Amino acid sequence: MILAICIQTNGIGDTRSEEDGMGYGIRVVLVMNRKGGSGKSTLCRALASAAASRGETVTIFDTDASKSCLKWMQAGQAAGNWSPLVEVIHTLDAHRVVEAIDQIYEQPDQEHLILIDTFGGGSEAQDVLAVAAHRIICPMMLSRGDLSETLETASWYLKLRGRVDNPDELAGFSVVFSRVQVRLSEAERAVADELFRSLPACEAWLSSRSAYVRMDKEGLLGPIADKTPNRGLAAHLQTAVKEAGELLDEIDQLIAAPAEVA
Ligand SMILES: Nc1ncnc2c1ncn2[C@@H]1O[C@H](COP(=O)(O)OP(=O)(O)OP(=O)(O)O)[C@@H](O)[C@H]1O
Ligand SMILES: [Mg+2]
Repeated sequence: MILAICIQTNGIGDTRSEEDGMGYGIRVVLVMNRKGGSGKSTLCRALASAAASRGETVTIFDTDASKSCLKWMQAGQAAGNWSPLVEVIHTLDAHRVVEAIDQIYEQPDQEHLILIDTFGGGSEAQDVLAVAAHRIICPMMLSRGDLSETLETASWYLKLRGRVDNPDELAGFSVVFSRVQVRLSEAERAVADELFRSLPACEAWLSSRSAYVRMDKEGLLGPIADKTPNRGLAAHLQTAVKEAGELLDEIDQLIAAPAEVA
């Protein structure tokens, strides 16, 4: 199935403060793909690491029953690889997420990245979360299985656009390639080409890196790098922070100036 998808402006500009030279303000990024193991939680952790390294406040709403990101925070705190800027809140209740986001809006001006990690499979709760988001990011690995589930996820998104009162106010949808190898196989290249023909994808991606595997086990990338005495290993960790930061920049720019046609 090839989807021709036309993504409009998300119409959400009220939290931007870039014109004032003050950064991006509050951004709500919903990370979803029906495919289990497509890299959703790793993407949330990498973006949180990049934002915290910039001194931003980060809230991750972990809506997965496995508590993957909540356990990650607990492991990171126990190992001393954490930052007071980053908080993970676990809840299976999408309405609670929306209420908590509303409370964040009531706080004074701030640079605040809000990430919503979801579980594979999809549910009606994800409609509620999508309406609260400024951007929907769909990570996928370069496999046939990830491609077909990504197209299914985009199909859910298009149907949602048809259901909401004002589709122009719905967040835009972008794919992000995850766990990308340095050299793509023929099969991986074919999957990427097919995706590009079907859906909008970010130019930045997350490479396959041992730094992300370490992050998933030990906590935020920046504090892990700071505590790593081996300069070579620390440089690898900082390269991962930089890569995630470039992706965060692209997502921030999509939110700030979202009009596009894919
Ligand atoms: N960029 C990457 N480099 C190396 N390993 C990665 C990368 N992205 C994901 N992984 C690994 O792939 C596995 C699946 O990733 P992850 O848990 O983020 O997927 P998920 O979409 O959150 O899964 P689920 O649907 O079960 O929540 C994990 O073991 C993770 O460490
Ligand atoms: Mg996960």
